Amino acid sequence: MYFGVDYHPEQWVYPYAGTSANPEGAWQHDAELMQMAGINVVRMGEFTWGLCEQAEGKYDFSWLKRAMDILGKAGIKVVLATPTAAPPIWLTKQHPEILPVDERGLVKHEGTRRAVCLNSDVFWNHSKRIVENMAKALGTHPQLIAWQIDNGVGGHFTEASFNEDTCRDWHGWLEAKYETIERLNELMGLRHWGQLVSSWAEVPMPMSAPTLHNPALVLDWCRFCSDTIVGFVRMQAEVLHELTPKCPVTTNLRPLLHRFDHFDLAEAIDFVSIESTAALKAKSAELACEIDMLRSLKKTAIRTPDGDRGFWVIEQKAGNVSWQDVNSLVRPGVLRMFAYQLVSRGATAILFFRWRQPRFGTEKFHGSVLAHNARSDGRVFKEVAQLGDEMKLLAPALKDTYVQADTCILYSHDNEWVLQQPNQPNKFFNLREHIQLFYNALHDRNILVDFARPIEDLSRYKLVFAPSLHLLSAGEADRLKLYVQNGGTLVSTFNTGLVDEHNLAPDTGYPHDLTDLFGLEVVEFDQLPAGEENHLTFKGTFPTSHLHPARLWCDLIEPKECQILATYAKDFYAGHPAMTMHTFGLGKAIYIGTLSHQHFYNDLVTWLRQLCNLHPLLKVPDNVEVSLRQKADGKVFFLLNHQNSPLRLQFYKPMHDFLTGNTFSGNYDLQPHGVLVLDEHPAHKEEMVK
Ligand code: GAL
Repeated sequence: MYFGVDYHPEQWVYPYAGTSANPEGAWQHDAELMQMAGINVVRMGEFTWGLCEQAEGKYDFSWLKRAMDILGKAGIKVVLATPTAAPPIWLTKQHPEILPVDERGLVKHEGTRRAVCLNSDVFWNHSKRIVENMAKALGTHPQLIAWQIDNGVGGHFTEASFNEDTCRDWHGWLEAKYETIERLNELMGLRHWGQLVSSWAEVPMPMSAPTLHNPALVLDWCRFCSDTIVGFVRMQAEVLHELTPKCPVTTNLRPLLHRFDHFDLAEAIDFVSIESTAALKAKSAELACEIDMLRSLKKTAIRTPDGDRGFWVIEQKAGNVSWQDVNSLVRPGVLRMFAYQLVSRGATAILFFRWRQPRFGTEKFHGSVLAHNARSDGRVFKEVAQLGDEMKLLAPALKDTYVQADTCILYSHDNEWVLQQPNQPNKFFNLREHIQLFYNALHDRNILVDFARPIEDLSRYKLVFAPSLHLLSAGEADRLKLYVQNGGTLVSTFNTGLVDEHNLAPDTGYPHDLTDLFGLEVVEFDQLPAGEENHLTFKGTFPTSHLHPARLWCDLIEPKECQILATYAKDFYAGHPAMTMHTFGLGKAIYIGTLSHQHFYNDLVTWLRQLCNLHPLLKVPDNVEVSLRQKADGKVFFLLNHQNSPLRLQFYKPMHDFLTGNTFSGNYDLQPHGVLVLDEHPAHKEEMVK
């Protein structure tokens, strides 16, 4: 188990620290304090290009080596980040053509990180060179255990640029995909508004225009920009794999936020690393959802530094951030609880961003382990040091354990990109919110969830949710059918299969390619303004804790062989099916033709739990989050109290607590933001009730 911080030794030299006689003197002190806090790894180097190559070809990595040597003496390992997220000023002065051009044709200027066009050959070549030189200079350092490629790739809305080099690559990409101009015209539907092209060079980039670009072209543009980013990361991964084959590579990701295909990117790296923004006071289920999304990006071929099958949290904010309108402090105990939430969902390393508050720059008031005054009796330092001790204690029990989920939510970037385009049937529909409704219901019942692309092998899951797969390719539809055919239970919804992979609407009925799977056809879809509602009337055994509304979107369903579970209560489609189930092969395909409120999804999960024989991990009071990591011969349960007040648990059989070594039975009060890490002992199978 690795535990550490993001360290920027370059910021702690004279005159900001150290002395004129010993400019790097603060590093030694840093290493000592890190040891005190139980830190065994740091990430560094991510923005140091302008320091390691102050003029073209004049490399100096010796200072980084000196910092690594000092860390080495303190037994601290290093993840080095390649510095390509912040090109040096001299490079942009010499080659202004590498600066990104925005959709209005305006240049975004130098002086910050990420001021580059990732299609620029010049930038690509210089990046390759700095990575090669860094790997040659530091790749054999005994402290080095992994590489982080770039930093926050795609961040600050830099996924797309509209440079000449981009245009050239865009045309090449289209030619490779469509092969002939006729095919491109046809599949993109460029007859619309008479925008047919007669050569590759005529295909526009979707720059600022009087109105909307062709949606099929915009989808391809998103795919092209994504391929560019993945290609850039892959280029660096190849260089590093060749020069330092023993070191796995990663990069820091945020929850599917940036506009590139995170699943594709995860294939280019050896293990996934994530950033956690627990400091932003999101609800526990929202954070858990983001963590599960990121964990799910890479399910196979994982190579971490310690061989564990998990993901790293390479930036957990060590307190407040500096980029919100109001940057509140993170309350005592909250940092610890969210670190456990990450570990409970599969993290095998936690690194706090950042070690020490810098005295300069845009992030000088960003929360850090050490404040400007660097006192080791600071609140955050003490909390982190406590966690450091606890992680040491837990490491043997957690070794080789991983999260195994029985349920899964499907997600594809192609689909999200199409749904983000304007001119949707209902602009108030939001895919993430729809996903979150399903996720909350599962999370609150302590059922573990993975995310997957619809094209993945889904056979390991008992239950799969497919919220609003508006874009569905033929291959994806086949996968879903195969899954149900072989005994799986699939829950799909309205706004599914309205277009194929080319963003073309089908002429064979909705949902595209799946009318046989669901035993129905959607013939029309009505849109309700925000605030207006229809209602659902249920038949049979579906549990209804509340009156369930139908809102935003109501499919008009023509049933064929399906069973009707619920109908609409009013309007001209009163009595028409709103929710159906169809037996297909050995499995069941459930279709929900509308959007409801959270209570509906809670009832749905209660019903599905019985239908699919799913068991919650433990029975605990509401507001206790439970997760499980397991291996062949053991299970480790995590219980987190997200409330500000204690919660009473009842242990009917003795349970072993890893953190205190105590055995509990009977009543136990879990403190506000408290955490329990419990062992399931074979002799004492746990049982907990409300
Ligand atoms: C991250 C980024 C860091 C720092 C941090 C601030 O996304 O990688 O360099 O800027 O945000 O919260």
